[in-house]
Amino acid sequence: MEVLFRQLVFGLLLLLPASQRSTAVAVPSPQCQTQCGGVEIPFPFGIGANCSLAGFSVSCLVRDGVSKPFLGGGKFELLNISLIHGTLRKTNNISTYCYNTSSRSMDTRPWWFSARNSPFRFSDIHNKFTVVGCNTLAYISDDTGTGYQSGCVSTCRNLSDLAAGSCSGMGCCQTAIPRGMDFYNVSFNSGFDTSRISSFGPCGYAVLMEAETFSFSPSYINQFNSTNNGRTPVIMDWAIRENSMSCEVARLNKTGTYACLSRNSECMDSTNGPGYRCNCSNGYQGNPYLFDGCQDYNECKDRSSCPSGSTCHNTIGGYRCSCRAGRKFSQQNKTCDPDTGLIIGVTVGFLALVIFSFLGYFIIQRRKLNKIKQEHFRQHGGVLLFERIRSENGLAFKVFTEAELIQATNNYDKTRIIGRGGHGTVYKGILKNNTPIAIKRCALIDERQKKEFGQEMLILSQINHKNIVKLVGCCLEVEVPMLVYEFIPNGTLYELIHGRNRALQVSFSSLLRIAHEAAEGLSFLHSYASPPILHGDVKTANILLDDNYMAKVSDFGASILAPSDNEQYVTVVQGTCGYLDPEYMQTCKLTDKSDVYSFGVILLEVLTGQVPLKLNGPEEQRSLTSNFLTAMKENKLDAVLARHIKGQESTELVTGLAALAKQCLDMCGNNRPSMKEIANELGRLLKLSLHPWAQLDAETEIESLLGGPSTSSIEIEVTTTSPYPSQDGENLPMNPMSSYYGR
Ligand SMILES: *[C@@H]1O[C@H](CO)[C@@H](O)[C@H](O)[C@H]1NC(C)=O
Ligand SMILES: *[C@@H]1O[C@H](CO)[C@@H](O)[C@H](O)[C@H]1NC(C)=O
Ligand SMILES: *[C@@H]1O[C@H](CO)[C@@H](O)[C@H](O)[C@H]1NC(C)=O
Ligand SMILES: *[C@@H]1O[C@H](CO)[C@@H](O)[C@H](O)[C@H]1NC(C)=O
Ligand SMILES: *[C@@H]1O[C@H](CO)[C@@H](O)[C@H](O)[C@H]1NC(C)=O
Ligand SMILES: *[C@@H]1O[C@H](CO)[C@@H](O)[C@H](O)[C@H]1NC(C)=O
Ligand SMILES: *[C@@H]1O[C@H](CO)[C@@H](O)[C@H](O)[C@H]1NC(C)=O
Ligand SMILES: *[C@@H]1O[C@H](CO)[C@@H](O)[C@H](O)[C@H]1NC(C)=O
Ligand SMILES: *[C@@H]1O[C@H](CO)[C@@H](O)[C@H](O)[C@H]1NC(C)=O
Ligand SMILES: *[C@@H]1O[C@H](CO)[C@@H](O)[C@H](O)[C@H]1NC(C)=O
Repeated sequence: MEVLFRQLVFGLLLLLPASQRSTAVAVPSPQCQTQCGGVEIPFPFGIGANCSLAGFSVSCLVRDGVSKPFLGGGKFELLNISLIHGTLRKTNNISTYCYNTSSRSMDTRPWWFSARNSPFRFSDIHNKFTVVGCNTLAYISDDTGTGYQSGCVSTCRNLSDLAAGSCSGMGCCQTAIPRGMDFYNVSFNSGFDTSRISSFGPCGYAVLMEAETFSFSPSYINQFNSTNNGRTPVIMDWAIRENSMSCEVARLNKTGTYACLSRNSECMDSTNGPGYRCNCSNGYQGNPYLFDGCQDYNECKDRSSCPSGSTCHNTIGGYRCSCRAGRKFSQQNKTCDPDTGLIIGVTVGFLALVIFSFLGYFIIQRRKLNKIKQEHFRQHGGVLLFERIRSENGLAFKVFTEAELIQATNNYDKTRIIGRGGHGTVYKGILKNNTPIAIKRCALIDERQKKEFGQEMLILSQINHKNIVKLVGCCLEVEVPMLVYEFIPNGTLYELIHGRNRALQVSFSSLLRIAHEAAEGLSFLHSYASPPILHGDVKTANILLDDNYMAKVSDFGASILAPSDNEQYVTVVQGTCGYLDPEYMQTCKLTDKSDVYSFGVILLEVLTGQVPLKLNGPEEQRSLTSNFLTAMKENKLDAVLARHIKGQESTELVTGLAALAKQCLDMCGNNRPSMKEIANELGRLLKLSLHPWAQLDAETEIESLLGGPSTSSIEIEVTTTSPYPSQDGENLPMNPMSSYYGR
């Protein structure tokens, strides 16, 4: 292969113009012998003319029937040449200093060698001047070169003291040499001889030799010369020393011959003596002194290139190790290390995936929730409501979000509950702007109740009357819609009449005023729209009292817009026992007169101070209505009147009110007065009660206050001079927390 290659190069060279060829370095002809005696002779060394660079000529000679390569015209046998290290190994003659028993004198045989003007220098790294003998002092000198001269002395006291492998002055002595030695001369000091101690052996030996391969043995004392056949290996550093050029100079000298011909080769300055050497670049192997001598080296042939468990891939000028998944090849350590980058990447990726999945999940959940909210919103007539809000500009109505209400009620805290009614729980809430509100939240969920909420909301959202509880807004996102009312702090008329000892303390005219206001509110409801809006559950518990004890009709849960055709009859009886219109019970048709009947019961409560149904009383006296009607029939009104009314109020007032109540309670709805008429009659009676000569009870002050118009100045007075003497907690007026909406 190499021969073929050389032929090719040679052929190419012949084709080159003469001018270019002259600048090129001499290239060995393909006929040149590349081996001798089993020793590889690489260029720049060569055997024969025109086969080597100057000074690198090797002669292949036959000695003892065997051909061997020699340097220096046959003086030194060439043992080895290393292109990579720029060294060669050759033999060196051992100098001897022996006692001749027959001539009784010392015979000296010193050797010297000059490498001056040759490419060779004695390697200071690999060689040591070695002296073997029992009374021997030998000198080494480089008189003409470095001027170096040194010596080594070896003595023996007792042969048995000599130790194998130890060359430290006892029978053996070694000394280092300086760098750059190109001349070698050995001489012996005649003061040290073996003449008188021939028992140790007759000779002393000295030689510059390769230290690594030398190991002293005590037997050398007698026969070092014969053991090594009179020769030992010595290492020479060689380099292209022509004109003592460095790499840089040689590379730039166009007329000179730069020896590093091969591509992918490197030049390095000689470390021992002048000149330079060539080496193939990393990943290439071959002869850098030849054209294309450096060829890619298949590193994968070396098992050690890649760590076990990995695959080796040879590349031009290098190689690659691929470790198994999850591991990365470390160039420094030549190991397959865990791929932290990959691991971190995978981990980060995985984490990112998890985070994104969670995010996605939450987003989907949120969307789902929003969808549910929207569905609820739609179900609860939100769309309808919004349309209405849009169509009626300026409607003071707000659609609350669930979050706002949760915040306002401190997440529906139990302490915020101000009432539990048939239709739901009522919470007190505080909005962000500190406005108190009442939030009605349904307890049960069924379609009918949902519808009720929607109805109430629709009705109330349209109504704006001072005697009707104002609906501030609603929340439709939740499963059960929630209604937000203005907060009415002072309880209900029910508590005012039936609360403990309340009736005694509230003047009749105050009750009358409240009844009048309630009647105004209901009248407004009935006349507000066509078809009329019916309350459906008129009772004292649904008449709330504000700061000024002004009546506010509430709880439109049972309200329906009066049906316009027969099919819209309410199929489920609504309302509260004791207040129910008997006609409604029979026909199941809720009319404005049903509200009138219920209001008649309220008037009875005002008159008698009794509850509509006494469940624990005697059977015939349970119903207040029938008691009253019976009393009226028998002209025994006094028997049912409240104690504080009896004899204290003017007869005209009492009988007037009783007559009105009786009219309201007529079994036939058509005979009952309208709410408007009731309001007017109550207004008339109220004026009568406030007539200057009307009998006033002890609480004149309260009466005038409660009866007077609601102004802010009076409001302050109410709070400072409470209508109810409130020395003890028992007598405090309505506890706002005990009042509720929608009983
Ligand atoms: C060596 O080269 C020289 C000049 O280049 C030439 O004259 C001589 O004949 C060559 N010798 C051999 C043996 O090729
Ligand atoms: C070494 O010794 C041999 C004879 O043993 C001799 O031929 C040769 O020239 C010697 N080498 C040198 C460098 O003197
Ligand atoms: C050349 O040197 C190498 C490495 O030192 C060694 O393996 C080889 O045997 C040597 N060859 C000879 C002919 O001495
Ligand atoms: C010893 O010396 C004699 C006389 O000079 C000589 O003939 C002989 O060869 C020498 N022996 C050796 C081993 O050199
Ligand atoms: C050399 O050493 C051995 C053992 O240590 C001893 O027997 C012998 O006498 C010694 N010889 C001399 C000359 O000292
Ligand atoms: C070697 O050294 C010796 C002693 O110094 C000297 O006599 C001899 O001439 C030297 N040989 C050479 C070749 O220089
Ligand atoms: C040992 O050295 C002597 C000279 O002192 C030489 O004549 C002889 O040939 C050498 N022996 C061997 C085995 O080389
Ligand atoms: C370049 O090389 C030529 C021929 O080898 C030599 O004569 C000359 O001195 C060199 N120039 C330098 C600067 O070394
Ligand atoms: C020459 O190159 C080889 C491989 O390219 C490398 O092992 C060697 O160390 C290099 N020699 C020097 C002196 O740098
Ligand atoms: C190489 O291995 C050593 C010890 O095993 C370790 O401390 C060092 O970090 C490794 N270097 C690299 C680059 O992996």
